[in-house]
This record gives sequence, C-alpha cells and structure tokens, in this order.
Amino acid sequence: MSEPIVPASGALYGGAQQRRITTADLIAAKTRGEKWPMITCYDATTAAIFDESGFPALLVGDSAAMVVYGYSSTLPVTTAMLLPLVAAVERGSKRAMVIADLPFGSYQESPQQALATATRFMKEGNAHAVKIEGGKRMAETVRTLTQAGIAVVGHIGLTPQSVNQLGGYRVQGRDEQAAQQLMEDALALESAGVCAIVLEVVPSELAKRITDALGVPTIGIGAGPDTDAQVLVWQDLLGLSGGQRPKFVKPYANLRETFSEASKQWADEVISGVYPDAEHSYK
Ligand code: KIV
Repeated sequence: MSEPIVPASGALYGGAQQRRITTADLIAAKTRGEKWPMITCYDATTAAIFDESGFPALLVGDSAAMVVYGYSSTLPVTTAMLLPLVAAVERGSKRAMVIADLPFGSYQESPQQALATATRFMKEGNAHAVKIEGGKRMAETVRTLTQAGIAVVGHIGLTPQSVNQLGGYRVQGRDEQAAQQLMEDALALESAGVCAIVLEVVPSELAKRITDALGVPTIGIGAGPDTDAQVLVWQDLLGLSGGQRPKFVKPYANLRETFSEASKQWADEVISGVYPDAEHSYK
C-alpha cells in the first residue's frame, strides 16, 4: 500500500521534498500566499533541467504545434503528436507535476470524447493532469473527468484553440460584460472541480479579481502580477523564439544567438580542419 501524501509545507519552487508535486500542494501554496512558476516543456532533456531547477509544474502545451512542429497556430496538433512528448517529459522529470494539454478536436465533441482522450494521456503519457480550454461550456466535461479521478487544469481568457472565433490573439475581458463572463467562467470551472486555472492575456486588474475569488490557484500568462502562478513558453523565456514577441514575454537569455554562434563556430572549425583536434580524437 502507498503512503498517504502530505501536502508540501516548504516552498513549491525548489522545495526539499523529492516526491511528485500534487494538486494538494498547489492549493496549499495558494493558502500560504506563495507564488510559483510553471514552464512549458516538450522533451526529456529540458524536462530534466527544469525539474532539477525546482519547477513544480511542467506543461506539455499544445504550443508544441508551433515551437516543435512549426505550425502557425495550435490547431493542427493531434493526440498522436502530443502523447510521445508528454511521455518524454514525464520520463525526464522526477518531481514536477506534468500537465498535458488536450489538443484541439480531441475533447470538445462530448465529455465522453474528453474522457477517452484524457485517459490516453494518463495511461500512455503518464501525465499527472490534463488542461482543457474553455469556461462554463466545459464545466460538464470537467465534472466527467474529475469524477473519473483525473486532475484538470482549466484555461480561459485568450484561448488559442479558439483564435478563429476570437478574431485573433487579442486581450480578453476588457469591457465589464466580458470581464463578468470570465469571472463566471472561472467560478463555473472551480465548482466543476478544476485544480487550477490558466488566465491568458487578460487585464491585470481582472486577473486579480478572479484570483481573489477562487480557492484554486490561477496561473497567469499575460495576466499581470497578481495571479498565484505564472507560465511561459520556455523558448520565449530563454530567447530562442524568432518573430514578433508578445508584450508579456520578457526574455531572460538570448539562446537564439548562443545556438547560432556556437554552431557556426563548429562549422567554421570543421571547414578549416581545426575540429576534431587530438584532444577530441581516439588513439
Ligand atoms: O500551450 C501552451 O503552451 C499553453 C500555455 C502558454 C498556457 O497553453
């Protein structure tokens, strides 16, 4: 029989406990007023780095459609494409909670379709939770998943899978009616049983109101400083992404330049015959 899991009392980020972070730990951190970071992740090598750095949650986002597979939106990615990435991230990590995004078209049809897809991510991907986009309209689906024992993270505000309906990647909840709608969405998801809610690209003041109204943590991306947690796509955080940068992205490194310079230096040394030298060759 397994030991009962006691919610971590130390810090969630970089905390001392070596076991996997659970949904109870996330709620306990909110009760303590402790903020935490979540980062996207798509492979075992980066999972090990972020896990060793102490990130309590790794999100295998459907942003993989763009940063891994090169599409211009998240819509084309499928379960078959995301499942192996989730499994790799779980294998590469020891402590972080691994959250799998359910791809567009794999859960919206019915709660039963969502349950079938989420079950695959739990059994084949070894995910610890799944994330789905949508507010009130997904409440029944959240109920079905949580009744089956699956931890669910909600996602409201700018929901990229609905980009065509939203008319672009724009700030959501700007007028009072839209703000009220988002508040109702958040409360409906909480009542349905989500363990956390991602708030994407909403005004800071609204994100604070929603965060204060909920018992479960909010995870902001472009939602200002008052959410319980923050999430970023790691390629944006570390300056690897090309193209236009959203306002909320603050790069903490310039990996694009580092990658490019290091690989060019190797190529130059191959061409000039400097590499491989005796030190890097076998006798
Ligand atoms: O797919 C993703 O990476 C996401 C986050 C940015 C919230 O959903």
